Amino acid sequence: MEDAQGRAIRYLRLSLTPACHMRCVYCRPAFHTNHAPGMLTPDEIERVVAHLVGQHGVRKVRLTGGDPTARGDLLEIIARLARIDGLDDLAMTTNGLSLAAHAREYAAAGLGRVNVSLDALDPARFAAMTGVDGLDRVLRGIDAALDAGLTPVKLNTVILREQNESQLPALTRFAAAKGVAVRFIELMPMGPLGDEWADRYVPADEMRSILNDIVQRWTPLPQGSDSAKMFRARLRDGGEADIGFITPMSCNFCSACNRIRIASDGSLYPCLMDRPTASILDAVRPRFDPGAFDNVLIEGIAGKAPEHPSRGFVTMTIIGG
Ligand code: 5AD
Ligand code: SF4
Repeated sequence: MEDAQGRAIRYLRLSLTPACHMRCVYCRPAFHTNHAPGMLTPDEIERVVAHLVGQHGVRKVRLTGGDPTARGDLLEIIARLARIDGLDDLAMTTNGLSLAAHAREYAAAGLGRVNVSLDALDPARFAAMTGVDGLDRVLRGIDAALDAGLTPVKLNTVILREQNESQLPALTRFAAAKGVAVRFIELMPMGPLGDEWADRYVPADEMRSILNDIVQRWTPLPQGSDSAKMFRARLRDGGEADIGFITPMSCNFCSACNRIRIASDGSLYPCLMDRPTASILDAVRPRFDPGAFDNVLIEGIAGKAPEHPSRGFVTMTIIGG
């Protein structure tokens, strides 16, 4: 499946719910409650993904949210997707709160790996940014994910001015000690929260210069299929860490985009920052109709712009990062 720019679409990001047990300052404005009626069911999700994999060349699915773990039927969804032939990579992005208790079950159900959001290593900073006094639990969750083989575990950190630039060195040392990659993400102006963007945005170049205090040498790693620019950083204290920068704002990677997104209400988003161009609901309810689905898909992908707009249409909690 290709879009009008000839970009092959291989990667589906599926937001399972807008609900989340955290309230990160850059993601979930106060008016978002955890009430989310009418979401796609496990059966509908399985049919959609099986069709995209079987007929349209999708090879990778990431479960996002909100937080996927806010859904009671997450294990069923994982198990249904894990049995789809031809799906090479089934990953999940999570806030990490549930991993300490459930990482093994996710792995047993067939989940391949997790990305965990970790914005600070200072407990008070962590609580201020996420609304939850949960740093310890998330750190235990990261260990549990490693133990359960949900690897490679990757850490995601959104950097905000005057909130957590100070955490950059500690997070880098943590990544070195754990042997996991951390990706520092430029803040994106999403939905109503976009108003605060200009005051909070830190470009990746600035993150790197802050890190030069502790990094002696940056060796670029080959560009994988993800959007992070990865480096092996040799630390002045002798350690080594894989550090990435995700630069949607300072240096966007739209020309290499291979993604589409479906939100939990069935809206199809051709781009993280654009409005939805179609809804798949009528093509999956009351029963999955492949012909109708393909029409919606074609219409939806036709609306995939060459580059993202300057400001995101919805908040991240709806579309899922
Ligand atoms: N800008 C950049 N990244 C964001 N995320 C959430 N909101 C934003 C934003 N405004 C990231 C989270 C998480 C992933 C789902 O998206 O850190 O890792
Ligand atoms: Fe929840 Fe992730 Fe959004 Fe934070 S960034 S509120 S953890 S969905």
